[in-house]
Amino acid sequence: MPPPDASTTRALLRLVRWARPALPRVVAGGSATLVASLIALAVPQVLRGVVNGPLLTDGSRAAVVQAALLVLLLGVLEAVLVWCRRALIATPGTGVERTMRTDLFRHLLDLPVAVHDRWSGGQLLQRSMGDLHTVRRWMVFGLVQLVVSATTVLVGAVLLLVTSPLLGAVYLCGAVPVVWLGFRFRQDYKVVARRARDQAGDLATSVEESVHGIRVLKAFGRGDDALEDFVRQADELRGTELDKARAQSRMSFALAWIPETTLAVALGLGVWLAATDRVSVGALVAFFATAAVMTRPVESLGQLLGMTLDARAGTDRFLEVMDTAPALSDPAVPAALPPVPAEGTRVELRDVRFAHGAGTREVLRGVDLVLEPGLTTALVGLTGSGKTTLLQLVPRLYDVTGGAVLLDGVDVRDLTRHDVRGAVAVAFEDPILFSASVRDNVLMGVPVERLAAMSPQEADEAVRVALDVARAGFVHRLPQGLDTVVGEEGMSLSGGQRQRVALARAIAGRPRVLVLDDPLSALDVATEAEVTAGLRRVLTGTTTLVVAHRTSTVALADRVAVLEDGRVTGVGRHADLLATHPHYRYVLTAEAGPGSGAPPRVPDLRGLAEEVRR
Ligand SMILES: Nc1ncnc2c1ncn2[C@@H]1O[C@H](COP(=O)(O)OP(=O)(O)OP(=O)(O)O)[C@@H](O)[C@H]1O
Ligand SMILES: [Mg+2]
Repeated sequence: MPPPDASTTRALLRLVRWARPALPRVVAGGSATLVASLIALAVPQVLRGVVNGPLLTDGSRAAVVQAALLVLLLGVLEAVLVWCRRALIATPGTGVERTMRTDLFRHLLDLPVAVHDRWSGGQLLQRSMGDLHTVRRWMVFGLVQLVVSATTVLVGAVLLLVTSPLLGAVYLCGAVPVVWLGFRFRQDYKVVARRARDQAGDLATSVEESVHGIRVLKAFGRGDDALEDFVRQADELRGTELDKARAQSRMSFALAWIPETTLAVALGLGVWLAATDRVSVGALVAFFATAAVMTRPVESLGQLLGMTLDARAGTDRFLEVMDTAPALSDPAVPAALPPVPAEGTRVELRDVRFAHGAGTREVLRGVDLVLEPGLTTALVGLTGSGKTTLLQLVPRLYDVTGGAVLLDGVDVRDLTRHDVRGAVAVAFEDPILFSASVRDNVLMGVPVERLAAMSPQEADEAVRVALDVARAGFVHRLPQGLDTVVGEEGMSLSGGQRQRVALARAIAGRPRVLVLDDPLSALDVATEAEVTAGLRRVLTGTTTLVVAHRTSTVALADRVAVLEDGRVTGVGRHADLLATHPHYRYVLTAEAGPGSGAPPRVPDLRGLAEEVRR
């Protein structure tokens, strides 16, 4: 049977980094198993002594009893060692699996958001759960058993040759076809093992996507299509698993019948040799007893090699993620963000260029924009013009591909990501809440060290103010008030409610810079004005960039910037731009609905906001 190939060995050796704490126990457990196996191989040698000595010559009862006691002692010792192995090996693997899983998760959090465009949620789920489980099982069971079985087979083969060179040679002839089949098995199995793991990840993605989009599927009556798709993928996975099982059973079958056949030939030959006195009866008994002890380890080799190749596929998938370098890294000598200037932080985008992937079209093609300190700038542009993209460059969720983003004159790439994200708070288009209480969801917006320094009352006050500004008073009417768990595992909130909690989260930390991706779209115009007034009142000195689709939102901003063809082509007050900037006019009209050619009527929201403030 061939050992795992070099690339598999290399991949698996990289696991030592995580397995190190468990190694002493795994090695101790493995040694116990090995000694137990070697004891099993020693028993036939005792038998040989008994048969050739007392049994066939003087028939001394005492000698036979002595030998029987020795065999019994060896048996007990073997049992104790097997128990030791179980006690030693059962637990350390779980610790290794936990560390690997934690490291993977930590690494995922550190990876650029672009990675999530490459690996689906299901794939990452499968990598962090199923794959690591397979690796752990192999590490504590498969690896130990593989080493022990292979050693037992090798030592057994030597003993067979020593006991009777001729019979040994006949028996070991079977190794030739076994090794040849083993090479083929290794080649075939490696491919299907990887395919099965990939398909399991795709299947997990399907489940995740369907559960996420269950309403859409039901509303459009597409449940059957989703089911059909799922069944197809499940069938593919089943097909691959069957391929694996077939390869495995072919190998196991060969490992059962080839040694049995050569053993039968050796048996016939052995009896003839014993009858013609060319080999002692004791040696013949020892030979067959040794071959019997080897049967199980030989048969298990195919399965163990399969397990090893499965673990290799799992390891590869784990390492693929771990080897992806975080594209954004902190500078070796980070700059410090200057103290907040009295008037607020100045954000500057200087000739900013950005493309979502190498070789793809540039979404931003030289954006020059200054967000004046303490003011609110609205960003307006057609759908798909790159507003969300631009916004994500400020907290450095992506790095610019050209130009620079500066906070108070410092390039965000010269700061630690921790500092940047402590200074810039974001509310995304699609408000995501976590499975936690409303309070904890809001407090997530407060930088950790500031939160640690807050008393519970201060924290509660920050949450109250933030929710108040975001006009999220509804949370107090939830079943457990602020302690109500929301998010995936908790209570479902409406889109507008989620938006308000997400907005409260963004403002809870009183950030230097606030970046809002159309956060008020689900609010009615009057509430939007109230929220805006609240923001101005509470976040004095905060520089705000807000993506706007509605006239009501732009009307509330201090300035408006127009994003057109990857550049900012106009900055000014809403009314001025409306009068002078054709594209701006077009965008607001287009957003108001196709066919509405006339410039939109602008409600007097500034007045309304002023009123609310008073
Ligand atoms: N993760 C991504 N990978 C590749 N391309 C992307 C990605 N995100 C956005 N894009 C592309 O970049 C362009 C700008 O997208 P962006 O989301 O910034 O538009 P937007 O102005 O925010 O639009 P909307 O008003 O509809 O929210 C689009 O053409 C989009 O297809
Ligand atoms: Mg957008």
